Parts: sequence; structure tokens; C-alpha cells
Amino acid sequence: MASPIATRFLTGITTSGTPHLGNYVGSIRHSVRHSLAPGVESFFFLADYHALIKVDEPARIPQSTLEIAASWLACGLDPERVTFYRQSDIPEIPELTWFLTCVTGKGVLNRAHAYKSQLDKNIARGEDPDTDVTAGLFMYPVLMGADILMFNAHKVPVGRDQVQHIEMARDMGQRFNHLYGAHFTLPEAEIDDAVATLPGLDGRKMSKSYDNTIPLFAPRAQMQKLIAGIVTDSRAPGEAKDTEGSALFQIFQAFATADETAALRKAYAEGIGWGDAKQLVFERIDRELAPMRERYEALLNDPAQIERILLAGAEKARQLSRPFMTRLRHAVGLRDLSSLGGQGAAASKKTGKGAKAGKPTFKQYRERDGLFYFKLLDAHNGTLLQSRGFQSPQDAGRAIGALQHRPNEALATLAEQLEPVDNDAMRAVMAALEELAGQAS
Ligand code: TRP
Repeated sequence: MASPIATRFLTGITTSGTPHLGNYVGSIRHSVRHSLAPGVESFFFLADYHALIKVDEPARIPQSTLEIAASWLACGLDPERVTFYRQSDIPEIPELTWFLTCVTGKGVLNRAHAYKSQLDKNIARGEDPDTDVTAGLFMYPVLMGADILMFNAHKVPVGRDQVQHIEMARDMGQRFNHLYGAHFTLPEAEIDDAVATLPGLDGRKMSKSYDNTIPLFAPRAQMQKLIAGIVTDSRAPGEAKDTEGSALFQIFQAFATADETAALRKAYAEGIGWGDAKQLVFERIDRELAPMRERYEALLNDPAQIERILLAGAEKARQLSRPFMTRLRHAVGLRDLSSLGGQGAAASKKTGKGAKAGKPTFKQYRERDGLFYFKLLDAHNGTLLQSRGFQSPQDAGRAIGALQHRPNEALATLAEQLEPVDNDAMRAVMAALEELAGQAS
């Protein structure tokens, strides 16, 4: 069970391609290692709804989903420890997207980079500004905002190009909280400058859009061939080489220790031939990747296993998203009408002194473990809500006070202190808390 002080990190990758060395060095390696650190709670997901925005070949999406999921697992992601899921298995995400759509200014989305750059391109070409712009591209930041806010992530590790999206998610959360009560944690972008961006085969940043990538788990022989194709200058063996601006050197550096890097620097100065240098770089990279490649290949050969892992992950994620969405639906005014009837009846019964019977109550008690607990009971003394143990009766009392006076906000902030509640039960909890809040005022 996560400790209440854990920092929640959330990482998503669009399922539109095959992971390459740049993804590994820039994100996968670091985020997998980080997910094992104490005090860290991590969410990793495959953003396949985002893929629909740019992929026009349906078969590409499951293939990419498989490859990215297998890569993460092969690199050591532990699905027991993290929450690992596929975006489209969480129906609460598109639902939240709509809620956020309704609190997001169109003018804000007009300024989003991905949309704007397509627009600028069209204008520069003298075309209609909206050529090839789908409403999906325009809405991209809102879907991303829902990914992040759905799980109340504190930190979202991203490249600089994605920072604007995190800021937008933050603004959406803020706006929603302002209108409907404090439901969302406001996320922050985490940019790790220590993490290198890797040059590709042609020396520009390794990126699918430049078609200069080296697939992370290319078979050994192919990897060797690709590395042999990295651009170099035309200096002959025996001539000193520049490390500055050498893509080969930078790629090596991303895998090597400081000592190994110093040794290659020396070899450059002493005129190592490009062929030998490339062989060295290949051997070094292969040493790190070979054991993972083996796991990757085994996973790729067993897609059903990955499917099972993702479905189990989705179930874990939905333990959070389902009750949270019930609360959010209630907050925005999508409500169970029968709870209105109940309230009306209770309200009319309350006039006069009949208020004693048939109302929800909190009950505080101490268990043999020495901790202090409370329950929320319904009119018939049935348990609606069960707390976890608090250190002191004051702590438990404060939680009860918060639930009575600001139910929405308190349910969000106290989530860790309450036993998980399913969808239907959460509706009853909300109705009972509303009733109590109504009486208090
Ligand atoms: N936009 C990200 C990308 O292009 C993927 C993504 C979707 C994402 N939703 C997210 C990343 C939420 C972080 C958080 O790769």
C-alpha cells in the first residue's frame, strides 16, 4: 500500500511507433529506474487514444502498443509495483475529457504548439489554415489533461516540447476546482536536463519524424549495421578525430561510464579509424541491451501475456478512476435522481423534531491495534464508509469534520485514509454526506 507521502509520477507514450535508442536514453531507462525508488508511486500508460490522432493505419496501433509495452517490461518495469495500463481500457478518461472540454477556453487550445505549428505550416504554404487539422489534433491537450488529472499525478516527466501541455492540464484542473470544488491535484512538469537527447543516424536529434532512428531492440546484426551507418566525417585512420559534434561519440557517451568515455576520447585524439570506433560503440551498447533484448523477444512472442498484464493494470487503475469519476459526475451535476428524492423526503421529515431517526451518522471507535477509526453509517446503521486507522482521535475527528463540511474536497484529499469504495457505494456516500452538509448549514 502506498504511503500517503508518496509522490505520484505519470508517464505516457503515444502508441504510434517502435521504441528507439533515443526513447530509451531520454525516457525509458530513467523512468523505469526511478519507479523503483522509495517514496515514488508511478503510473505508466500506453496512449492509444492519442495515437488515433496521427495514425491512419489501424494495424499500426496494436503493433506499437505491443512493442512499447514489451520494451518497458523488458527494461525492468514491474507491473506489481507500478500501475501499468492502456489508456483505452479506462473509459473514465474520455468521460473526463468531456468534463475538461467544457471548462477549457477555445482560445487556450488555439495556442497549443502541435495545433499551431500545423496551422503555421498551412499558412506558409498559402493553404487554408485548417487543412489537415482534425478536431482531434485541436483537442489533443484536453485528452492529455484528462490522462494526468484522472490519477491526480503530482509530477509528469516530459521533454521540453510537452511542457506547455502540462501547464494546460494544470490550468484545466485549476479551473475545474474553482468551479466544482477541490477535486484535482495540480500537476507539474518534470524536466530532467541530465537525461540526454540522443543524436540519430544523420546527426540530428534521433526522432521518428527525421527517419534517423535505431530501434531499441533491433536484432544484433541489424543494430551493428545501423551503427556502422552513423554519419562521420571523412578523416582517415591515423588522423585525430573531433569528439565535438560527433554523433557516434555522443551515442557512446549515453551508455558508457566516465572512464569509458575518457578512453574513447583518447582513442579519437590518437586517430582511431571510424570502423574501429563504430565497432567499439556497438559492443558497448550491445552489452547493455543484450539481456533485455532476450526478454523483449520472449514477450513479443507472447502477446496474450502482455494483454493480461495490461488488463490487470487497467483494473488496478480503475479502482481509482471509477469512484473518482462517480464523485466528479456528482460534482458537475450528473446525479442519481433517486438521491434527490431521498433528500427531499429527509428534508421534509426534518421539520419538526422528527430529525432523530433515519439520518446518516459518523461513529468513531478504537481498535485493538491501538489506532482510531471511524465509519459513516446510513439511516439503517449500514456501513457506507470505513476509514483506515488514524494515530489519534483528533486526526480521525478532523477527517470527519472535513467530510461533513467539504465532502468533495475531503474525499479527494483523504482517499488514502479510506477503504476503497466502489461506484454504487460512492453514490450512497455522496448522498449521505450531502444530507449531513445540508443539515449543518
Ligand atoms: N503526448 C505524449 C507524447 O507525445 C504522450 C502522452 C499522452 C502523455 N498523454 C500523456 C505524456 C500524459 C505524459 C502525460 O508522447
